[in-house]
Formats: sequence, structure tokens, C-alpha cells
Amino acid sequence: MNAVSDPTPSWEGAVWVTGAAGLIGNEVVRLGRDGSPSPFPVRGVARADLNLTDFTAVDRLFAAERPSAVIHCAAMSKSPACQRDPEAAWRINHAATAHLAGLSEGIPFLLMSTDLVFDGLKGGYVEADPVNPLSVYAETKVAAETAVLANPRHVVVRTSLNFGRSPGGRSAFNEEMREAWRAGRTLDLFEDEFRSPIAAIETARVLWALVRGRHAGLFHVAGRERLSRVEIGLLVAEWFRREEPNLPTPYRAGSLRDYRGAPRSPDTSMDTGKVERLLDLRLPRFSRWMAGSPGWNRR
Ligand SMILES: NC(=O)c1ccc[n+]([C@@H]2O[C@H](COP(=O)([O-])OP(=O)(O)OC[C@H]3O[C@@H](n4cnc5c(N)ncnc54)[C@H](OP(=O)(O)O)[C@@H]3O)[C@@H](O)[C@H]2O)c1
Repeated sequence: MNAVSDPTPSWEGAVWVTGAAGLIGNEVVRLGRDGSPSPFPVRGVARADLNLTDFTAVDRLFAAERPSAVIHCAAMSKSPACQRDPEAAWRINHAATAHLAGLSEGIPFLLMSTDLVFDGLKGGYVEADPVNPLSVYAETKVAAETAVLANPRHVVVRTSLNFGRSPGGRSAFNEEMREAWRAGRTLDLFEDEFRSPIAAIETARVLWALVRGRHAGLFHVAGRERLSRVEIGLLVAEWFRREEPNLPTPYRAGSLRDYRGAPRSPDTSMDTGKVERLLDLRLPRFSRWMAGSPGWNRR
């Protein structure tokens, strides 16, 4: 059951990062292993190392390695996939999370959750706002949040769209957009659906700061800018055209009013003041970050 890909001989006392082959988990592992800000050895736990829904295997590895903290990024993270297979979504997003949080009773445990726990009728959400999930994905995350927050030592971080490069090159929303453009598709983007996007590396920095500081509770970690899907699409298109000047990036601006699919939350922009005040930092505006600003700054 040892990770074949990693040469470190013993993981005892390391910080476990689940979902290590995914977009955010990979950034968390990289940032931890680069030294600052992590003083701990970091154990990236990918599916190839451990299937988190195999509870017997999880118990065995957890007992053998006795992690000092867990940053739980593994999930069925795409809403359409959860909608297609609710049973699998509940098993990994809720049951496996509750199981791992139970094993982590005496150590810091951080769960990644989502802005989609909200119905999006209000926008500018603070942590105290009531949730109202509209999809299977969001329902599983709300249940997982409740299980994790039952332990006063534990942390839940809700984030928004994360921009970045995933190890497989296909997980981030921007990678999905590029794949569609490379295939010659025109993207339909809503001008009246709003999110607070953030670069995954900035999210990862905040996760480490929360775990290192032994902070507990519920936090919103997102970009400090409310942007429509069209505005986000234009920023992503501009970014990719720097790397691939000939990439066609066509899109059609549409309205949620004319949309007839599974329910969508129109405005899940989040207020990040709580975590910014706690950690004394200012999260970047996505448009500035995309334009090359250094990002996460001390106030
Ligand atoms: N990225 C975003 O924009 C965003 C926004 C809001 C919230 N979040 C949340 O943030 C967290 C990380 O997101 P992400 O974008 O990094 O997701 P991701 O790229 O899809 O990575 C999730 C990882 O979890 C792994 N996993 C799934 N089921 C597993 C299992 N049974 N055992 C072990 N590993 C398993 C996946 O492995 P396979 O690839 O092999 O399935 C994948 O590598 C998730 O909880 C997600 O819901 C992400």
C-alpha cells in the first residue's frame, strides 16, 4: 500500500493531502514540498495509492502512517458526473469524507467544499448565510461539511472556480474550456451567472496557512472579484492566446433566463473577509492575477 511514485521511506507523521493527482491537491503537495510554508513532510495520497472508499484500506494506511494533519481534496468534483451517478458521488464526497474525518478526530482535518452549496439567489455570501444546494454535487458537499464541522478542531473551506494546470491537463475549468476550443467548439457562456474565481495556487497557500495556524471552522476562500461567466471566459481566452496565439476562442453570450437544463445557481460570489482578517492577507482579484500580479499579498 506504499506510494510507488515517491521515494520518501516513511510517511509517519506527514500531512496527508488527498486528491494529490487533482488540480488543487497537486498544488497543495507542491507548495508543501517546496519547503515554505510547510515545516512537515507532505504525503500526497492519490487514487493510485489508496481508494478512499475502501474503508478497510483507509484504516490500515492511516494506522500505519499516523498523519499529523489531513488536507482532504479528493472528491467527485464535477457536478454533471455526480448528477449521473449519485450513489458514487455520495460515497466519495460524503461517506469517505466522514470516515476520514472520524479517523482524524484528534488532528487537524480540512475539507474542500464549494460555493455551489448556495442557491445563488443572493450573491456576496458570508459563512453564516444559509445553504440551499440545487444539485447532487452540492447536496453531498453540504452533508460532508456537516459531518466535518461536528468536530470543533476541523476546518471546511468553500472555494469557487479554481484556475490552474492539473497533472492530467483536463480537470481545471480553464483546461475544459481550452479542450473545447481546441476541438473547434463554440462555448455558451452566461452573462448573468457570477462566480469568484481564484488561481489554485492561491487557494493552496491559504489552506496551508489555515492548517499551520491550527485554525478551525468554516471559511470562504475565493477571488475578491465577482465576475460573470462571459468575463471569466474572456480572461481565460486571453491567457491561452498568449501561449497559443492561433487558438480560436469563440463563445456565445447567453442568459440563464433562456436556459433549460439542470438547476444552476446564478450568483455564488463569496465574501472572503473572514479568512482575510484571520490570516491578515488580501486575496487577489482574478483579473489582476491573470494580468500577472503577484497574487496573495500581506496587507
Ligand atoms: N476546482 C474547482 O474549481 C473547485 C471549485 C469548488 C470546489 N472544489 C473542491 O475542491 C476539491 C479539489 O478539487 P479539484 O478541482 O482539485 O478536483 P479534481 O481535480 O477532480 O481532483 C479530485 C481528485 O480526487 C480523486 N478521487 C476521486 N475519488 C477518489 C477515491 N475514491 N479515492 C481516492 N481519490 C479519489 C480523483 O481521482 P481520479 O481523477 O482518479 O478520479 C482526483 O484526482 C474537491 O473537493 C472539489 O469539490 C473545486
